[in-house]
Amino acid sequence: MQRVFSGIQPSGIPTLGNYLGAIRNWVPMMADHECIYCVVDQHAITVWQDPKELARQTREMAAALIACGVTPDKCTLFVQSHVPAHTRLAWIFNCVARIGWLNRMTQFKDKAGKDRENAGAGLYVYPNLMAADIHAYHATRVPVGEDQKQHLELANDIAQKFNHDYGVDFFPNIEPMIQGVAARVMSLRDGTRKMSKSDPSDQSRINLTDDADAIALKIRRAKTDPEPLPGEAAGLEGRPEARNLVGILAAITGVTPAEVLRQHEGQGFGSFKTVLTDALVAHLGPIQAEMQRLLDDPAAVDAELRKGSDKASAIAEPIVNRAEELVGFLPRR
Ligand code: TYM
Repeated sequence: MQRVFSGIQPSGIPTLGNYLGAIRNWVPMMADHECIYCVVDQHAITVWQDPKELARQTREMAAALIACGVTPDKCTLFVQSHVPAHTRLAWIFNCVARIGWLNRMTQFKDKAGKDRENAGAGLYVYPNLMAADIHAYHATRVPVGEDQKQHLELANDIAQKFNHDYGVDFFPNIEPMIQGVAARVMSLRDGTRKMSKSDPSDQSRINLTDDADAIALKIRRAKTDPEPLPGEAAGLEGRPEARNLVGILAAITGVTPAEVLRQHEGQGFGSFKTVLTDALVAHLGPIQAEMQRLLDDPAAVDAELRKGSDKASAIAEPIVNRAEELVGFLPRR
């Protein structure tokens, strides 16, 4: 059985982008893969996080994942900082990865902005920690949204260089699994930018916890263009906002964008937005209710995460111990 690894940052409430691009794809994989899913709090602090908020958001993220169907009994669900193997391997990878490779990471350039000298060093070496997350488990499949593709290519480069430098065939190649029409859900305010937890405008995203009124308002205000919907996908060319809303409805209702266009051809966005709002409210309502139920008993969520970190450590410790031996560290015992 192939081993799957994926992670999500608890840097805010999960968005519809996180849900459609990643979380929703994590669930069916649990049927025929050994799945390891991680709330990556160490990644989150590569940009400033209020400590109390981070702890709360980490638990909320775990509850959100469970509510979406990432059932702890059927996978390994845990918090990154609870398993020290990740940072031990990340240090080795900091020494394997080349600065030139990191300089090419577009996400660093986006997140660091113009004042790069002032960005945290952790933000720069972040992809090395992400590579370690995956390779600490010898995972071979990684379900993510489109924006993580470059990081996964780097994770393969690091594994190959490690294997080459130490003359071993130790870390396997990983296969990104970027699925579906919603691999890149865009901002509701600007169809050329991805929907993100960290966008300063809450109007740019649907949060998994938004109630019906918030969803209705955000969709009503979502940027569109004055043209009616075309009959086929080619007609969405050069209309990023229209393409995005069509993609969201397709993903949430489980049909293709072509089918959505067939059903709504010639309509303006007024009626389309009502249909989209209703579909989102119907889909997210049960998830929100389950998330609230879980958060009413935070100790139970924490207990699941503790069990998860024990299971994760049992897999990662021997792999990272071996990696350290290959590097030449004196064995721990
Ligand atoms: P993060 O927390 O930014 O996002 C979690 C997952 O959601 C996907 N995603 C999207 N998909 C479609 N449209 C969007 N607008 C959108 N926004 C986010 C992301 O692609 C991701 O799959 N570096 C990762 C977390 C991570 C990780 C890992 C992932 C750490 N270690 C190891 C895989 C394997 C991140 O910041 O994801």
